[in-house]
Amino acid sequence: MARLVSDHVIGRAPGQVDYRETGAHFRLAELSGSILPERVRDALAGLREGGHDAVVVHGLPADPLDDHQQPDGSHDGRDGIDGGAEATPQPLLGWTWLGMVTRQLGHEYGYRAEKGGNLVHDVRPRPDGAATQSNASSEVDLQLHTEVAFHEIRPDFVLLYGVRSPQPRPATRLVRIADAVRECSPETVRRLREPRFTIAAPDSFSVGEEAVDGIRPIGGTPGWPTIRWHSSIAGDDPSDKAAITEFRAAAERVAHRVRLAPGSLLAFSNSRCLHGRDAFEAHYDGRDRWLLRTYVLRDITRLMSRYGPPPGNGAVRRLAETRTA
Ligand SMILES: [Fe+2]
Repeated sequence: MARLVSDHVIGRAPGQVDYRETGAHFRLAELSGSILPERVRDALAGLREGGHDAVVVHGLPADPLDDHQQPDGSHDGRDGIDGGAEATPQPLLGWTWLGMVTRQLGHEYGYRAEKGGNLVHDVRPRPDGAATQSNASSEVDLQLHTEVAFHEIRPDFVLLYGVRSPQPRPATRLVRIADAVRECSPETVRRLREPRFTIAAPDSFSVGEEAVDGIRPIGGTPGWPTIRWHSSIAGDDPSDKAAITEFRAAAERVAHRVRLAPGSLLAFSNSRCLHGRDAFEAHYDGRDRWLLRTYVLRDITRLMSRYGPPPGNGAVRRLAETRTA
């Protein structure tokens, strides 16, 4: 498989990957998607059509990494850095698997306030985020959440790919919302279906946001519940607070634990699953855990119909605004 990817994708793509203009690499990956085993593509088709809530793939050929090879931070979207020259070799196999799966489910997109609008995110521990509820954390459990829960436009699917994952590997916790709802009392579910709750922006968004109110955490129908949840979720009423506590405990009880190794990929529905991550030890020595992440919309034209036609390749795929209702 690695040889096929080299011949059909990496060898034909521009030399450097581009975090903001993924089109060249991801389109080649999309066109070569049949390199993925049929069983994987079948599972992803099930995820896309709602038959599955998540897909885990282990054992994809992983990039050989040099000691200390890591993202250099110039793509984290901090300090106004806009990409710049990339000195560190990138995990091109990983980018390709991510591109293939992303394009089987929809299209990658990003937020200007999250990693500077990058469409592929390097997820790794950072000293300044160690104790935060963000993708830079390590010292603390990342509590169960919906990705970009505070925002009106949220990913339909979230993809995580393991580039480096030292032992002991922390568990990514994954909860199927239907399982959690079944664990809760009818009164709690009824409460959580009302627009009585607030959610704040996560720490990883670089622009401070006020809390968004009128959130209905549980949506959908009784047979097809959906979720919008974050560690910051709050309600005024004691009954609202009790419902939050009960749901949180129920969700943790039914969590699955996925340990992403190099070559592992997790794709999940962001409206049908919650995810979190156990704490782990970071050393900041260039050999820490490193994941690649994409946010996926089933239908990228949702952004075009809202923000207009793309002024340049891919530009419309980054949301310009930072605050919506
Ligand atoms: Fe997350």
